[in-house]
Amino acid sequence: MSSRPHDKYVMVTEVGPRDGLQNQPAPIPTEAKVNLVEGLARAGFKQLECSSFVHPRRVPAMADAEAVFESMARLAGTRYVALVPNMRGYERARSVDCDAVAVFTAASEAFTQRNINMTVEGSLHRFEPVAKAAARDGVALRGYVSTVFCCPFAGPVAPEAVVPVVQRLLDMGCYEVSLGDTIGVGRPDDTRRLLDIVLARFEVDTIAMHFHDTWGMGTANLLASLDYGVWKYDSSAGGLGGCPYAPDATGNVATEDVLYLLDGLGWDTGVSLEAVVHAVSALAEHLDYRLPGRVYNATRATQRREALDAAASSGGQA
Ligand code: HMG
Ligand code: MG
Repeated sequence: MSSRPHDKYVMVTEVGPRDGLQNQPAPIPTEAKVNLVEGLARAGFKQLECSSFVHPRRVPAMADAEAVFESMARLAGTRYVALVPNMRGYERARSVDCDAVAVFTAASEAFTQRNINMTVEGSLHRFEPVAKAAARDGVALRGYVSTVFCCPFAGPVAPEAVVPVVQRLLDMGCYEVSLGDTIGVGRPDDTRRLLDIVLARFEVDTIAMHFHDTWGMGTANLLASLDYGVWKYDSSAGGLGGCPYAPDATGNVATEDVLYLLDGLGWDTGVSLEAVVHAVSALAEHLDYRLPGRVYNATRATQRREALDAAASSGGQA
């Protein structure tokens, strides 16, 4: 039976605190990360990826993963996910009561090697004990397959290469597998080719799409996937991010752009766009660059203009 509450529901998984912040050039205070997670949870996300328990030397921006999980207030009914590459990561995540973890591999050998220093088969082998421990501990297990369209080191990836990796992750016990266009190059025709093959094999409820927006195709790819009945999407608040091991790739499709699109089309996400903008603007004070999210920037510009108009009209009345 589908876990989808109703057929106009789309589940947006917020990954900004992990995928968005893992590649920040300047350190962000842990407190600001915690505020972001808490603000995003209040906005209504039912699934939120908060940090990653990877090697701190490899991804220094995530070195405070324990502190983030220990400090953040958690809402009942929200699944707070942590990225883990192996048992060491799983144990670290469990030490701070993490109740959902995501393991990650790829459809490309070259990317997997650079990203996690192992082969695809080697990564799946390392996930086996994580999956067993998660099942024993009642921890939800999510999976990622990166480079579903193209590898930054080896070029185009055939959709057929994605299928066996998804199969292995589902067999291991993942409740869903997120398919990553890690470098954000895919177009709707690529998305359709992939979904033709993937959805012939797997239940739509087990598939999420994870579009990076490097070439600006994120929302177009999302629309193409909606036509296939896919209802689970990852996005990043403000359009933050990029993968430290995918040169020149930018962040995920911005959460605000996704919500603006879905709200306008009458889909129900249960997430407040206004509350997301509010959470992101607090974080933006710690960034020395302009966030890329279009709807985020448009909303902030509108808010600033309205505030100026209000100040001018109250000044006029005085
Ligand atoms: P390794 O060096 O091969 O690990 O790294 P190892 O098992 O050989 O262990 C070497 C040392 O690292 C040992 O310490 C371990 O304890 C330690 P020593 O005994 O030498 O003192 N170690 C750890 N320490 C802390 N936490 C851990 C951990 N594991 C081992 N979890 C490893 C392998 C995977 C750990 C490393 O390559 C790594 O951390 N890579 C980071 C990869 C990463 O975070 N990439 C970005 C996220 S993926 C992404 O963004 C894509 C995604 O968004 C989807 C998409 O867009 O497509 C998910
Ligand atoms: Mg990603």
